[in-house]
Amino acid sequence: MSTPHSHPPAPTPEAPPTTVLVCTSCRRDGDAEDGPRAGARLRDALLDAARGRDDVRVVGVECLSVCKRPITVGFADAGKWTYVYGDFPPEAAEEILATAALYGAAPDGLIPWKSRPVAFKKGVVARIPPFVSVPEVTA
Ligand code: FES
Repeated sequence: MSTPHSHPPAPTPEAPPTTVLVCTSCRRDGDAEDGPRAGARLRDALLDAARGRDDVRVVGVECLSVCKRPITVGFADAGKWTYVYGDFPPEAAEEILATAALYGAAPDGLIPWKSRPVAFKKGVVARIPPFVSVPEVTA
């Protein structure tokens, strides 16, 4: 019930950007010995494709320990499940960012199975629950 002294609802803070992790150490068949690795090329493509967007941030990492399924990427955000995926080519930047937007829109990070592109169904390696403090762990 509104009163003359009621205040408008506090503005909700803007959602933080989804972190898109990409392994810059991943190699793919055909990578030149003296050239940038496939993972580094995908990182650069992701950075180009994400330019001007505030809903994602691209973070290159040296290894996600999924070295047999290059290129490895991941999605992470505070309070959400973290996902790790493998088997991406360096040309997958647009598809990865489109799927990162689906992740960002999901309050818990769980993208409905039907909405997931095939590469994200076949490529899933791990999902890791949101961080909880020790007293909250029940199992
Ligand atoms: S080198 Fe890419 S996951 Fe290890």
